[in-house]
Amino acid sequence: MPAPAPTPTAFHSVSPADLTTAEWMPLLGGAVAPRPIAFVSTVDAEGRVNLSPYSFFNVFSYTPPMLVFSPVNRGRDGSEKHTLLNVRAVPEAVVNICDYAMVQQLSLASAEYPAGVNEFAKAGFTELTSEQVRPPRVAEAPAAFECVVEQVVPLSQGPGAGHLVVCRVVRAHFRQDILLPNAAGIDPFRLDAVARLGGDWYARASGASLFEVARPNRRLGMGFEALPAHIRTSTVLTGNDLGQLANVETEALPTPAQVEEIKTDPMVAYLLNKYPAGGPELLPQLERLAQQFLAEGRVAEAWLVLLLAA
Ligand SMILES: Cc1cc2nc3c(=O)[nH]c(=O)nc-3n(C[C@H](O)[C@H](O)[C@H](O)COP(=O)(O)O)c2cc1C
Repeated sequence: MPAPAPTPTAFHSVSPADLTTAEWMPLLGGAVAPRPIAFVSTVDAEGRVNLSPYSFFNVFSYTPPMLVFSPVNRGRDGSEKHTLLNVRAVPEAVVNICDYAMVQQLSLASAEYPAGVNEFAKAGFTELTSEQVRPPRVAEAPAAFECVVEQVVPLSQGPGAGHLVVCRVVRAHFRQDILLPNAAGIDPFRLDAVARLGGDWYARASGASLFEVARPNRRLGMGFEALPAHIRTSTVLTGNDLGQLANVETEALPTPAQVEEIKTDPMVAYLLNKYPAGGPELLPQLERLAQQFLAEGRVAEAWLVLLLAA
């Protein structure tokens, strides 16, 4: 909220040495969330297949395509995960992407089965032979990345210590139905992705939880401090509202003649008629109307209404 002046907020502030590993885990995993999930298949030196989920994971480069995930030593005894041991022995992995339809089976695959147990069989997934690497991929996954492991970077030692497994993608597979037309990428509604939060919580990226935010890119929005004072200090407009308004370039603002024209909009005309004296009675009404336009992505109309209120 930009205005009025922010009320003081209480924070629980800690340094690494203040907490044990067990105390850090729910705070880090809960706050750095939601996280995408790599469903990683590997093989050991004997060719035995392993499949485990890792949410310390992301994409870090386009050229070449690079993915990184992090197996963390078991908190109980500091022992290393099978996936980590496998990529040291055979530096290859398939990072499979998980959708909502797979999440219960994926969770089952995270159980600590003994070394050499194939979680494809345990969790009911289908192996597909990879084209470039030895670990098989998950047939049920909407996307899968065959990778060569370029580096394993230990971040520390002992219980809770992570290891960056740096993967270079050598072949990628995208299920046809998740692709947008004209090579425009992935349809987020069709991907139906899931992500991990703290504790046992997951998030499903679908339906009403998906929304778009217009990117500034090369366009230089005017910024908050350039907003007219009556907009910046509004008690109706939120930080998200002002963020949209300040994303407009100063040169793109409407002319006074255009502002006059908005008076013919039925809702604006109704408000002007209802509050002929204008001023403090009319202003919040116009701000609410602008807010409604912003919620519908009609930023230009929101600006017209707000400039009318000036
Ligand atoms: C959704 C999900 C995400 C997980 N993310 C991680 C992670 O990022 N790092 C990690 O060490 N363990 C993570 N785990 C736990 C491992 O999957 C679990 O320890 C598994 O037994 C490791 O298998 P492995 O020893 O066969 O590699 C996660 C579990 C789930 C269900």
